[in-house]
Amino acid sequence: MAAHMLISKYGHGYIESMALKCVVELGIADILHKHTKPMTLQELATALSLPTVDMNRFQRLMRYVVHHMGLFTLDNKDSTYGLTHYSNCLVRDSKSFMVPMILHGINDWLIGPWYSLSTSIQGGPTAFEMYHGITGWDYLATHADANRMFNEGQGAITREIFGEMVRQCGAWLFKGIGSVVDVGGGNGAAAREIVKEFPNIKCTVLDLSHVIRGSSLDKSSEVEWVEGDMFLSVPHADAVPLKYILHDWGDDECMKILQRCKEAISSEGGGKVIIVEMVIEINPEIDMSMMLSRDMFMMVNFGGKERTSEEWERLIRNAGYRKCKITPFLAMASIIEAYT
Ligand SMILES: C[S@@+](CC[C@H](N)C(=O)[O-])C[C@H]1O[C@@H](n2cnc3c(N)ncnc32)[C@H](O)[C@@H]1O
Repeated sequence: MAAHMLISKYGHGYIESMALKCVVELGIADILHKHTKPMTLQELATALSLPTVDMNRFQRLMRYVVHHMGLFTLDNKDSTYGLTHYSNCLVRDSKSFMVPMILHGINDWLIGPWYSLSTSIQGGPTAFEMYHGITGWDYLATHADANRMFNEGQGAITREIFGEMVRQCGAWLFKGIGSVVDVGGGNGAAAREIVKEFPNIKCTVLDLSHVIRGSSLDKSSEVEWVEGDMFLSVPHADAVPLKYILHDWGDDECMKILQRCKEAISSEGGGKVIIVEMVIEINPEIDMSMMLSRDMFMMVNFGGKERTSEEWERLIRNAGYRKCKITPFLAMASIIEAYT
């Protein structure tokens, strides 16, 4: 019976994703946060921005996310719902990257390709290409809304994680660095974090033209913007951050990107590539679920992969770098310095 229960749990895993997205779309955490104290189901229903509410369905949604997912508390004495540690990070103004990540990541265009996973195991195009007929990057280039949400999601993760990394590690990480080119820098979130802490570092963002032109952020003069292709050339700089870029690609493409970056940095001035990526550890003693899920996501949608420390070291050495230093920071972001 235990086996049936486990397989059934896996089979219904999508219900958790969809209930989570529904809670975010309805803004339930925002309503409770604004109200500052627990609310009854009726009070919550009245506060929803919906023309009508089916109270039976709403109660069953809340029962699922309270009892199964732990997203809210339910006080049986007065039947009021409250925020938990988990739903606190679903409040939109909490600056957490969770809301943009959920709104961007749980979408029909990203879920559809999973139906092609079995076929993709035979090799050839990614599951995403099998399903949509184009690559993930071409899809983003031709779907403005998806492109905007993707870049907003990436920017939110960057502001939270990379911002903290720059504050905690910037003094040694950017020591002696006068200029950086953030390759695949999206809407410039990482570059802005660098400039905020180190105003003397000249920051350039290189990304595809539809990303730079589609960014709603103010193209202020504190950062220079370059439309280009990292497979063709990278502007010159003392250091090249590559944040969440290489996990989008297979080893052959990564070699090309790392070689273009190597050409861009000067070997005399302590030039280096600063890779910010997850370093996965295959160890049954630890919880590997986030690492392995992200690896599957990269495989299905972009043909990329998450890498172990040995794989990072091999890739960097094969691309012609002299030395590689890995500094763990967070489970989803280590600092991998590649020196020429
Ligand atoms: C996963 S996102 C990471 C964005 C940003 N570095 C961050 O961490 O917030 C990958 C980025 O690579 C960019 N990219 C993909 N192909 C590229 C290419 N050929 N040349 C330059 N940038 C590219 C994408 O547009 C996207 O902004």
